[in-house]
Amino acid sequence: MNASTTSRHATAFARRFDLRLPLVQAPMVGASTTALVVASCNAGALGCLGAGAMTAEKIAAEVAQIRAATSRAFGLNLFVLEPAAPDDATVRRALGAIDPLRAEFGLPPGRAPERYAPAFREQLDQVIALRVPVVSFTFGVLDAADVARLKAAGSYVIGTATHVAEALAWRDAGADAVCAQGAEAGGHRGTFIDAEKNPLVGTMALVPQLVDALGIPVLAAGGIMDGRGIAAALALGAQAAQLGTAFLPCAESAIANDWRRRLAASSDTSTAVTRAITGRYARGIRNTLMDRLEAEPALVAPYPVQNALTQELRQAAARADRGEFLSLWSGQGAPLLRGRQAGCGAAELIDALDAEWRAASMRASGFAALE
Ligand SMILES: Cc1cc2nc3c(=O)[nH]c(=O)nc-3n(C[C@H](O)[C@H](O)[C@H](O)COP(=O)(O)O)c2cc1C
Repeated sequence: MNASTTSRHATAFARRFDLRLPLVQAPMVGASTTALVVASCNAGALGCLGAGAMTAEKIAAEVAQIRAATSRAFGLNLFVLEPAAPDDATVRRALGAIDPLRAEFGLPPGRAPERYAPAFREQLDQVIALRVPVVSFTFGVLDAADVARLKAAGSYVIGTATHVAEALAWRDAGADAVCAQGAEAGGHRGTFIDAEKNPLVGTMALVPQLVDALGIPVLAAGGIMDGRGIAAALALGAQAAQLGTAFLPCAESAIANDWRRRLAASSDTSTAVTRAITGRYARGIRNTLMDRLEAEPALVAPYPVQNALTQELRQAAARADRGEFLSLWSGQGAPLLRGRQAGCGAAELIDALDAEWRAASMRASGFAALE
């Protein structure tokens, strides 16, 4: 199918980026590769690279790879973070819980790294210099001057919101669109206002509230796994659906084989939202790592400190393909993956989503005609 085919159902967002269907392949640190982004873009979705953990140099290299393989629009995602400067006691306390787990992989006691996360300002300047077509953000909001710099560089700016106040903050800063991240979503919560309350507004409730409050395009994320979900998101007023978990089993995704197996075996109650692994609330499949670190909540350091301190352990677990010590980020919809062929390419998945979404839209308009 020709990726540039537009449909009578296409939204303004889909038309703007010449999408075959109103679909965003979610940016996912640890899973979204340049190959996944390119395959998604070339199949007619908006492919997005999770670049929150990359240095500015790495971002430049990966953007060059994407540009060499597709002429279509693509997106890149960053974490809005202040530099972390934890005190020694915080680091020592956190390592008190992490070191015994490191020992199980033969790793020596952990130490404070030189840097807990890449420098956000350097990442942002790089992305502006690279004139990336779509740039999305999570974990915080930019000020209006930075949004204006991005727009002057030709970027379309998307902010992530988990409740109305965050969405209004992004709109007021000048964002072009907001990604509504419902509680069902896999991975880190984007929450940055009232984060200590861990607000968990579900996608079905969040999307129409943001649509009514904002007056700028809303993308729906969280629990959307198939064409029915895309049609439902559009019915709620979203201009596109952003799917993450649905892309995890794709051939181009970077996740470990044991993560794939655990996704395939998961049920609707397999995931939990925890801050024990990284210091920031995130949804993933419950495993030994989550249980062991949750057992001592007072030892958990804030993000990105805890994230950096558990990183070597999780990397060792990935090398050993031992899912019990990975961060198995996944959404509540993962069991719906069972209808799909494991390890298929993103293009095949997008073909299926397109057919399903069109069929679901036809059914919905058929019901309307019966009224
Ligand atoms: C493994 C994984 C990694 C993720 N990494 C990011 C990220 O780097 N940046 C971001 O904005 N969202 C990230 N997310 C959240 C997704 O963008 C999206 O909100 C979520 O996947 C949608 O819900 P779903 O998983 O139910 O489809 C991640 C999600 C997963 C599953």
